[in-house]
Amino acid sequence: MGIQISPSILSADFARLEAEVASITDVADWVHVDIMDNHFVPNLTLGLPIVEALHKVSALPLDCHLMIEDPDRWAPAYAEAGAGSVTFHVEAARAPVRLARELRARGSRAGMGLKPATPIEPYVDLLPELDMILLMTVEPGFGGQAFLDVVLPKIARTRELLRDRGSSVWLQVDGGISASTIERAAEAGADVFVAGSAVFNADDPAAVVAHLRATAESAAVRD
Ligand code: DX5
Ligand code: ZN
Repeated sequence: MGIQISPSILSADFARLEAEVASITDVADWVHVDIMDNHFVPNLTLGLPIVEALHKVSALPLDCHLMIEDPDRWAPAYAEAGAGSVTFHVEAARAPVRLARELRARGSRAGMGLKPATPIEPYVDLLPELDMILLMTVEPGFGGQAFLDVVLPKIARTRELLRDRGSSVWLQVDGGISASTIERAAEAGADVFVAGSAVFNADDPAAVVAHLRATAESAAVRD
């Protein structure tokens, strides 16, 4: 799999979600849906009914990012609602292996998210149970924050760990990704890029997605 772009609808117009998703359908790989519960993060967004509704109208698969407490209880329903990928946070999961297996059993890819200060090393043995690692490049909770360069070494270390193991697990970055930051994230080894405000605050979201992809592709370190 090459470079993939997953625009986050967190910065889209929630009253026109179908049209907002349609605006990036021809150029993006996924639609990133940020689910926040006001406990794991200090913000509240949307939940299962909206994901079910989006699934009906989106031509792109849904990449659900659960910033919630107790994902062991709530995440499998997002897979059942038709999400192509469900990412839970390791800081919140009680049994990440069991949860990843439950997601896969429901036909979804299983993603595991890490906040900026959470190290990857304790979790390397879980990689075979996962389809994607999400490294947050902002503190989760809000769109429009500045990219945290302090996460770059962790992106590079994670890429190295994946390479050493011959792993095909995707490496997603989320937060502050724009035309000016995507290059260093791609150079560090990320291959799936979430971008919210950079895409949906632009006049031409599709053009931004195309530009982000081209920039990441030319920066990506090839094996
Ligand atoms: C933040 C969310 C992100 C957010 C990214 O907690 O997980 O997906 O939408 O927004 P930008 O690209 O504006 O940082
Ligand atoms: Zn997200």
